[in-house]
Amino acid sequence: MNFIRLRKNDLCIEKISANILAKKYETPFYCYSLSQLKNNFYSFNNAFRAIKPLICFSIKSNSNIALLKELKKMGSGADVVSAGELLRAIKAGINVKKIVFSGVGKTEKEIKLAIKNRVLLINMESENEAILINKISNKLSKITTVGIRLNPNISPKTHKKISTGGKNDKFGLNYNDLINLCRKIKNLKNLKLDGLSVHIGSQITSVKPFKQVLTMVDKIITKTKIDFKYIDLGGGIGISYSNKEKKFDLSQYAKLVSKFIKKNQTQIIFEPGRFIVGNTSVLISKVIYIKKNSNKYFIVLDAGMNNLMRPALYEAYHKIIPLKKNNNRIKGNIEFVGPICESSDKFLSQRNFPKIKEGDYVAITDVGAYGTVLASNYNMRPKIAEILVSGSKHKLIKKRQSLENLVNN
Ligand code: LLP
Repeated sequence: MNFIRLRKNDLCIEKISANILAKKYETPFYCYSLSQLKNNFYSFNNAFRAIKPLICFSIKSNSNIALLKELKKMGSGADVVSAGELLRAIKAGINVKKIVFSGVGKTEKEIKLAIKNRVLLINMESENEAILINKISNKLSKITTVGIRLNPNISPKTHKKISTGGKNDKFGLNYNDLINLCRKIKNLKNLKLDGLSVHIGSQITSVKPFKQVLTMVDKIITKTKIDFKYIDLGGGIGISYSNKEKKFDLSQYAKLVSKFIKKNQTQIIFEPGRFIVGNTSVLISKVIYIKKNSNKYFIVLDAGMNNLMRPALYEAYHKIIPLKKNNNRIKGNIEFVGPICESSDKFLSQRNFPKIKEGDYVAITDVGAYGTVLASNYNMRPKIAEILVSGSKHKLIKKRQSLENLVNN
């Protein structure tokens, strides 16, 4: 189901024409569909209903509080990686017993905060981290429930900058170190080892690497003879940014996990980010100038790489569509760029595009995950507004940063 789509020649977010919103709110801005968010969460939940997983939405993909409150209402927990994300999750009303804390570089301060708030699991990524969590727990006279993160050395076949489960990546413990730490942990009296976690990367479109992960987790359970209360399989499920991309087969993944838990009775945790929010949002932007050099048209937008980093950072593809579709086309090479003083401030190159003129609006699609969270004030440009649409209603869920605030802070 797609709640952001063209109706006749008009791009609509649920029941509202994006063009109307573009005239009402100052561009550029992010615009979300609440129905799409609900649809994604419930389809994920449904696909895995046989195993009743705990879904801990990965807050790093989108930390807008209004969206987190909606996810909380749907029953979501949270995967957090910093004190900021932890406090944001709590502020959104998410139950601490549904919060897992991951990350390779948790500071003493962050660990203390997580312990004091009694989160479900702190997923440890090294022996030294285990020793530190034990020491802090001891000082606070607490027994802390922890998970241990595996680095399975499995390639997820995704972009190299978003792969996390290879032997050269900084994340988790390799098989042997993990087995050793599982043994040593008995001496760390203030830790209770309840979980085994693994996350091999993001935007993964094949089930195969997840199958390999499950095989290795199974092997670890047999080898350590530990009945982990929780197996946290991380996130990573890819979405289709273009028609060319393969659609991830969620039902096949669900079958594999069902088979796994028939053998190893445990509570499964997932930490999806992109799957839940990726296609919930578009970035609405205005065409400032159209300039032509010898061999291409530059369409200069009022949104820049500081608003959406993914194309510059990962050469990520995000389709661009005009809010009002024109059947005539500009023929030739077209490049959508932003106003920032960097050549990498470029969103998309393509041949042919519906005819467009200065002052018209376009939507950069599928920007709900890792969009606003990666935004910066580069070139002293303010962070932009976020709007939420539900049916024929719309509301501001994040104010555009004022120039005054930007200049004075
Ligand atoms: N759990 C852990 C431990 C993670 O590191 C991540 C993402 C997730 C869950 C959620 O993964 P997802 O379901 O969203 O794939 N900025 C990059 C993506 C970085 C992903 C970092 N970790 C991008 O824009 O593609």
